[in-house]
Amino acid sequence: MLDGKKVLFSGMQATGNLTLGNYLGALKNWVSISDEYETFYSVVDMHSITVRQDPAELRRRARTLLTLYIAAGLDPEKNCIYYQSHVSGHAELSWILSCYTYMGELSRMTQFKDKSAKHADNINAGLFTYPVLMAADILLYQSDVVPVGIDQMQHLELTRDIAQRFNSIYGDVFTIPEAYIGKVGAKIMSLQDPAKKMSKSDENPNGSIYLMDDPDTIIRKFKRAVTDSEAHVHYCDEQPGIKNLIDIYCACTGKTPADAEAEFEGKGYGDFKLAVGESVVSVLRPLQERFADLSKNKDYLDSMIKANAEKAQYFSNKTLRKVQKKIGFPERVR
Ligand code: TRP
Repeated sequence: MLDGKKVLFSGMQATGNLTLGNYLGALKNWVSISDEYETFYSVVDMHSITVRQDPAELRRRARTLLTLYIAAGLDPEKNCIYYQSHVSGHAELSWILSCYTYMGELSRMTQFKDKSAKHADNINAGLFTYPVLMAADILLYQSDVVPVGIDQMQHLELTRDIAQRFNSIYGDVFTIPEAYIGKVGAKIMSLQDPAKKMSKSDENPNGSIYLMDDPDTIIRKFKRAVTDSEAHVHYCDEQPGIKNLIDIYCACTGKTPADAEAEFEGKGYGDFKLAVGESVVSVLRPLQERFADLSKNKDYLDSMIKANAEKAQYFSNKTLRKVQKKIGFPERVR
């Protein structure tokens, strides 16, 4: 609890270009629940270096992502939006927690297994301890709730285990965080393969809509989206391509699948795809405009970044000092 509100923490990596899937599945929900919580939304750039990054590119992407948080509607005066690397407590708590985490636990993480298979030439220790840094992110702010995708649930479970283990030794130090399971954030699939999640790292750029795609590109990608030969806009698992397009349409317009079915009854897929594309354009256009405005306003962004990093540093230090004291580090002389 902070100022009578529950604390919410979440973060995204600054790797790859954000897709419509990231927006409809995560960012849009972050905005809609932000008023109810005291929020910390981090650009987790320290997690990004577990795979090799080009320095200039990492810096640029981190700035883009932070700007997108704001462009999507998170007010930086009310939400603490900051770079993980600007707040020293993440690394400090991560070290401490790593001494309370077992090799066996980390070896069981499916993301570690996947990533080490994918980057076999660079299986570094950071890739292995990645979940400990994530636990530090969450526990530093005494977070109550953490909106995460299904792929991060295992890491959140581990965070809870670490926190409980620590508390059972030292008393109530950490709040035990819960996954935020709200209105199901739309799970958006690839436009080229509706069995796969729309992904930042898809090799086929036609499968993903990027938040910065211009209207023509968006419409073109929807026109090419994979469907089926049923010629019937029907919301069902047997028509996964159409189902995905209906999900996107509904997430962008607020309509229900039944509304969409009725609206496109007797119409061809061409009309339907165009309507879906246009609904996406109308959601992304204002976001892109705000992004462009913010990007021009360097001083404003810099001042927000500075103020929020200080705020995050302040709250994280409270937890860190408590932890350091509990485990027996010498007191600081003031
Ligand atoms: N590991 C998360 C991901 O790749 C990002 C992340 C880092 C995160 N720290 C976090 C998410 C803390 C939620 C809470 O998606």
